[in-house]
Amino acid sequence: MSAAVDVVARMDQQLVEENYERMRYARCIKASKRVRWDIEADVFRGRTFDFNRKFLPDGLTKVHELAFLAGNEKRLMSQVQGRTYACLFGLVERYISAKVLELASEQRLGDQVVLEGLVRFSDEELKHQELFRRIEMAIGMKMPGGYVQVADATEVARSVLNKSSWAVLALTCHVELFTQVHYRESIERDEELSDLYRDVFRYHWLEECQHAVMDEIEWTREDRRITAAQREHGVTELIDLFKAMDRTLQAQAAADAGYFMRLCERTFDEPQQRAIREGVLRAYRWQYIVSGLQHPHFEKLLSGMISDAQMRRLHLALSPIVSR
Ligand SMILES: [Fe+2]
Ligand SMILES: [Fe+2]
Repeated sequence: MSAAVDVVARMDQQLVEENYERMRYARCIKASKRVRWDIEADVFRGRTFDFNRKFLPDGLTKVHELAFLAGNEKRLMSQVQGRTYACLFGLVERYISAKVLELASEQRLGDQVVLEGLVRFSDEELKHQELFRRIEMAIGMKMPGGYVQVADATEVARSVLNKSSWAVLALTCHVELFTQVHYRESIERDEELSDLYRDVFRYHWLEECQHAVMDEIEWTREDRRITAAQREHGVTELIDLFKAMDRTLQAQAAADAGYFMRLCERTFDEPQQRAIREGVLRAYRWQYIVSGLQHPHFEKLLSGMISDAQMRRLHLALSPIVSR
């Protein structure tokens, strides 16, 4: 008898959760329709990037730690890092849009509100990828040759999508939460940025707000579905994904530090060269890994799903990346 009561209580709980998630999806769809924008008509509006101004703010580039750089060199550093910041979004959004399409396909005969939310999510990520390609083209035409994107978006997506849904959704939620905090706490507030560069990330943020909500729903839904053993494996895979991302960041930071130094009209001594290489890597780790890991909402979601021992394991494994 008590087992039957327990089953009914669980079904009631599931119904409450599904209704709540459906309502959150409906809100995302409404917001997505309200903020919808066009790359040319709303973002670019015939404008180009102003190379007399910064692209990425100091809070993200960490350029203030390189005190020996002159003002124009600091601005150049923000432009090199700003170029990569946009390229890396285009890179991660390849796998995100593919993952969301996979989730939508699982829902194709299910809840049509959830399906519409996921289809809009994927469609927006496809548009964002086009936006970031368009940015790279515009910046590439104005900056000297020699810039290199070290990773291939499709190869990265293939390798990410090999991991379990729990790990992939955790990484995705992390990315879409740090996107918001970067805009709200750094990009939006910096008056010295190129207007077009700031607008790119304002428009991007407007749509990412809904994505983070849907990521959270899908990640928690997946977490309810899996066993303890699958979650333990998911934590290992999430660590692997962060480490793989870090390998890309290390390679991109090395390429960008070299590109930056070649563009500067002077030579740097050995300690300065090392400081530039380490400074760029520290900035990229902050942008793409650490600021997301320390995001209060990500921490809350993750600690609600995994045990203290799993959290310690994750922190220990990522300490060489986070602490440097
Ligand atoms: Fe996006
Ligand atoms: Fe997104």
